[in-house]
Amino acid sequence: MNLNLKNKTVLITGGSKGIGLSIAESFLAEGASIIITSRDAGNLEKALSHLTSTGFKSEHIKTEALDLSKSSDCNALYKKFPNIDILINNAGAIPGGNIFEIDEEKWRASWELKVFGYINLTRLYLKNMQEKKNGVICNIIGMAGIAPRYEYICGAAANSALIAFTQAIGGASVRSGVRVFGINPSATKSDRMETMLKKTATDKLGDASRWMELTTALPFGRMAEPSEIAHLAVFGCSDLCGYLSGTVINVDGGQNFNPPQK
Ligand SMILES: NC(=O)c1ccc[n+]([C@@H]2O[C@H](COP(=O)([O-])OP(=O)(O)OC[C@H]3O[C@@H](n4cnc5c(N)ncnc54)[C@H](OP(=O)(O)O)[C@@H]3O)[C@@H](O)[C@H]2O)c1
Repeated sequence: MNLNLKNKTVLITGGSKGIGLSIAESFLAEGASIIITSRDAGNLEKALSHLTSTGFKSEHIKTEALDLSKSSDCNALYKKFPNIDILINNAGAIPGGNIFEIDEEKWRASWELKVFGYINLTRLYLKNMQEKKNGVICNIIGMAGIAPRYEYICGAAANSALIAFTQAIGGASVRSGVRVFGINPSATKSDRMETMLKKTATDKLGDASRWMELTTALPFGRMAEPSEIAHLAVFGCSDLCGYLSGTVINVDGGQNFNPPQK
């Protein structure tokens, strides 16, 4: 299949690690140029050396260090790179915990990035894409939005809001030729997931180092690989999926209909 992504410019937030880095690799493999962002210039430097050491050309990769929980940084990113074809909203770092463990300060801080960061960048880039009558926005959200858990309450509520946001925006954006869709990953191998599973292992098993034991009851006896989310994101953004908008695709190995057995 020809995904026809050569000469496309793709902005991937949180592209220095985990799912975002895997999405970056997958777009590069299709001949696209990418811009990856994260807060830490060192993480971006590591990502760049990883990508170039696997054979991708540095002229196809730009990096930008900023904190997307600040609207001023969202505006600065747009100002520097206004002309993109595809936006992947992916940067997110909502901690696990129940309503008593996540106080108001932590709650608001994490939503500044995962909720308001997605909304702010969508507002900026959607306008530009609508004027060109072309573009795709893909929001990496999370299964907790449709399968909420008390122990991940802050993320569940954020994801649920972003699902509604994606559906409403993607329903209307097609009037001006722009597609907006989302992906809900379930547990996917990444630094963030390791941190969250270590907390659960501490709470449930009394030992953070036993976190891998929590993955064996998942579908296929494992977490999703970042590439399993990335390939779908790239395919969904391609012209081959030209009728995909206002939809959020669940990637959970069927877990929502078959919860792990105790
Ligand atoms: N992994 C999972 O199981 C899973 C499941 C469902 C949904 N998701 C969602 O998928 C997305 C990616 O998760 P992941 O597991 O791949 O996370 P990850 O490995 O921790 O990567 C997060 C990325 O976001 C960047 N980032 C964090 N805070 C930032 C900020 N304030 N401004 C800009 N960039 C920031 C990080 O870089 P710096 O630290 O350098 O800033 C990093 O590049 C998140 O939205 C997450 O909620 C993940």
